[in-house]
Amino acid sequence: MALLAPIISDNGTGYSKIGFAGNSDPSFVFPTAIATRESPASNSRGPSLPAKPGHLATKRGIEDLDFYIGDEALANSKTYSVHYPIRHGMIDNWDHMERYWEQSIFKYLRAEPEDHYFLLTEPPLNPPENRENTAEIFFESFNIQGLYIAVQAVLALAASWSSNKVTDRTLTGTVIDSGDGVTHVIPCAEGYVIGSAIKHIPIAGRDISQFVLNLLRERGEMVTVPPEDQLRVASKVKENYSYVCQDIVKEFRKYDQDPMKYFARYDGEHSVTGRKYSIDVGYERFLAPEIFFNPEIASSDFLTPLPEIVDGVIQASPIDVRRGLYKNIVLSGGSTMFDHFGQRLKRDLKQLVDRRIEASEASSGSIIRSTGVDVNVISHKRQRYAVWFGGSLLASLPEFYSYCHTKADYEEVGPSICRRYAIFGSVN
Ligand SMILES: Nc1ncnc2c1ncn2[C@@H]1O[C@H](COP(=O)(O)OP(=O)(O)OP(=O)(O)O)[C@@H](O)[C@H]1O
Ligand SMILES: [Mg+2]
Repeated sequence: MALLAPIISDNGTGYSKIGFAGNSDPSFVFPTAIATRESPASNSRGPSLPAKPGHLATKRGIEDLDFYIGDEALANSKTYSVHYPIRHGMIDNWDHMERYWEQSIFKYLRAEPEDHYFLLTEPPLNPPENRENTAEIFFESFNIQGLYIAVQAVLALAASWSSNKVTDRTLTGTVIDSGDGVTHVIPCAEGYVIGSAIKHIPIAGRDISQFVLNLLRERGEMVTVPPEDQLRVASKVKENYSYVCQDIVKEFRKYDQDPMKYFARYDGEHSVTGRKYSIDVGYERFLAPEIFFNPEIASSDFLTPLPEIVDGVIQASPIDVRRGLYKNIVLSGGSTMFDHFGQRLKRDLKQLVDRRIEASEASSGSIIRSTGVDVNVISHKRQRYAVWFGGSLLASLPEFYSYCHTKADYEEVGPSICRRYAIFGSVN
């Protein structure tokens, strides 16, 4: 039987991206949500009590086929209960996740899993039990040909090769992956994640949308918007109109002098009644992503600016890779899509680095002159779905198959085979 293109599935906290290797975009991007008939209470299994994979074909009754995923799940929230099987990047309800995958393969991609190899993605420091559960579902319930589970950050590095600023195809760099639920800063050296230096930041897309919502409410703009639409509207406002300014104090001063220049109008309509409404968007435009750079404007719990976190992560990595980590800072995920995000990060980070160099030169009495450190932040066209695209790229290389665990390997060894995996070398 001829092999069909590998399937790439990147399941995030907020959105899943699925499609076929070799394409430049996923075929489907839809919420990682499932609506079932169960009562919400029966779903509240915490991470301490994970459900084991269930093997659809054998254990399920017909009522288990009554569910929706993605946008359809959200649309049926009145009569079904909606669940999000991934939390903070990790699967926390295996039964829901299995059904979610099942429908995304059969109903969305219209593919027969037994004809395909699969590339799935995982967050950094994913526990090995999670890979085993995943392998069990894909090999036993879906009967797939072969499986590779890749760390999201490494795929994001591979995706940056599509930028024309990138000349050497390296898997050394610092990935800033900011999606809906969490922002990770992950240093990688030659395809290996430097686990001890990773940092998570509790600011991501959902928090920024909530912040925009609060600002719009304070200014009285939300009174005409029905409560159930408000968060979605705030999220659209954020995605369509926000940008990163280079200096918040100066930007506010300019804004105060001529606010009209900054205003944008957002038109929407009620999702059920179709009644139209419109709101004015003002300083939300540049304040929204500013919470990465001045987190105190939105929260009192988390106060460290992103550039400082990135600098800390690189400084916590082995000294011989630090230059490589500063030189190749790669952006990935929806919440890095704000205009000028990369420029601001680069400038603030460069300032931190230069100041440290000056301080150490001063303390050595200028005997030791530094050659300086090259700081580069890579933005590129495939950044929005960088993890998925990196997967698509790697899975379209002929050698991809040799990195996979095959059905035969799985049958011989069992799920523990997924504890071992081959790291992609820099492929030239
Ligand atoms: N142009 C844009 N500007 C700013 N934010 C955006 C833009 N487009 C999408 N987003 C935001 O990106 C987020 C989704 O990003 P992504 O798909 O990378 O997350 P995810 O993979 O589901 O979540 P995670 O990586 O946290 O598990 C949403 O919060 C969305 O509002
Ligand atoms: Mg993601």
